Amino acid sequence: MQPAARERELAAENRETRRNHEEGGPWKQDHRDPDEQHPAADDPDADTAGCARDRLDHASEVCNPRAKPADPVDYPRTLRCSPEAAICNTDTAAGNGLKLSHLAERSPAPTPWSEGEKIPWHEPGFSRRMLAEHLSQAHDRASRRFEILDGQVAWIHEQILAGQPAPILDLGCGPGLYAERLVGLGHQVVGVDISPASIAHAREHVGEATFVEADIRQVELAGFDSFSLALLLFGEANSFRRRDLETILSNAAAALEPGGVLILEPHSFEAVHRIGCQSPTWYSAPHGLFADEPYTCLHESFWDDASATATERWWIIDSNTAEVTRHVGTLQAYREDDYRLLLENAGFQSIAQHDGLGVLQEGLFALVAKKAS
Ligand SMILES: C[S@@+](CC[C@H](N)C(=O)[O-])C[C@H]1O[C@@H](n2cnc3c(N)ncnc32)[C@H](O)[C@@H]1O
Repeated sequence: MQPAARERELAAENRETRRNHEEGGPWKQDHRDPDEQHPAADDPDADTAGCARDRLDHASEVCNPRAKPADPVDYPRTLRCSPEAAICNTDTAAGNGLKLSHLAERSPAPTPWSEGEKIPWHEPGFSRRMLAEHLSQAHDRASRRFEILDGQVAWIHEQILAGQPAPILDLGCGPGLYAERLVGLGHQVVGVDISPASIAHAREHVGEATFVEADIRQVELAGFDSFSLALLLFGEANSFRRRDLETILSNAAAALEPGGVLILEPHSFEAVHRIGCQSPTWYSAPHGLFADEPYTCLHESFWDDASATATERWWIIDSNTAEVTRHVGTLQAYREDDYRLLLENAGFQSIAQHDGLGVLQEGLFALVAKKAS
């Protein structure tokens, strides 16, 4: 098709979309209160199947942009990170051949993990754009803002390490924001992350620490001395399949000295449930996390009650070419007992639960566990 003809076709589609918004047509926004739609979200004992059904009812809708302002920094959660088997969805490579028609024909309820597991943390371009989100002081999406990090690191230093210098392993360390602060307090830090841009930033800014660019499911840590503390923070644990999380926890235990401590900061069950029950949204941006060029992002979430997973899809439409790229990530929800079981099976004991790392963070909490001596 000639570009001019394609442009006319897109303009016609835009007019149709606008008309549908105005008429409350098939693109109609659901204005119901999310808590009303999903009454079970805050009640761990409630039957959550209603949410799954509700999700299906609305799976083909895209919301009215007037209902939620465009948010050019919105991005997949592993939140949050876990832009998410090999490492990532093979669809995440640009130019994966999807067209607008694939949107209309998409499955109304994805099978968890089947369309891809994570946003593409490891891709150089994506990781470069994500680095900007990690460092942003405008939001807490990829990493927490510095004042929160300062409070969390002070808590780790004082409450967990009793102010004593210690060798620390940070799994999924991002750009080294914890490492930087921990090194400043006299600790020795090894950080592991799959993001090339984050690791490059960390190496440049925290010369005193060691950073390894690797997948934490497979990283080889035998060359390091044992650690006193291992960290797996900011909900990243939920972005892995259960069997992968089991591997990561076992590897963390193997890397710790006897009596060494693991701090796991996962999402609560309810937080993952809420992510799976979000209403669809969309925004346009001149550039952003998903591309350096103008694009429109359509986001939809699904809660699967049977597997207790939230699957999110981000459909990225290139404004110049109308090429569609799909990113998909699944988050696994666990009840508190289940987290304890995972930790015990990996060789941890004396498990203590905290509201957060000294700083309250909605939807997240901390489990502090000791490797058996
Ligand atoms: C939510 S971010 C948190 C980063 C850091 N812990 C912080 O709070 O600033 C999750 C991090 O996990 C990393 N990640 C995701 N999957 C990974 C994997 N399989 N192996 C290593 N790192 C991974 C991402 O690149 C990202 O830096």
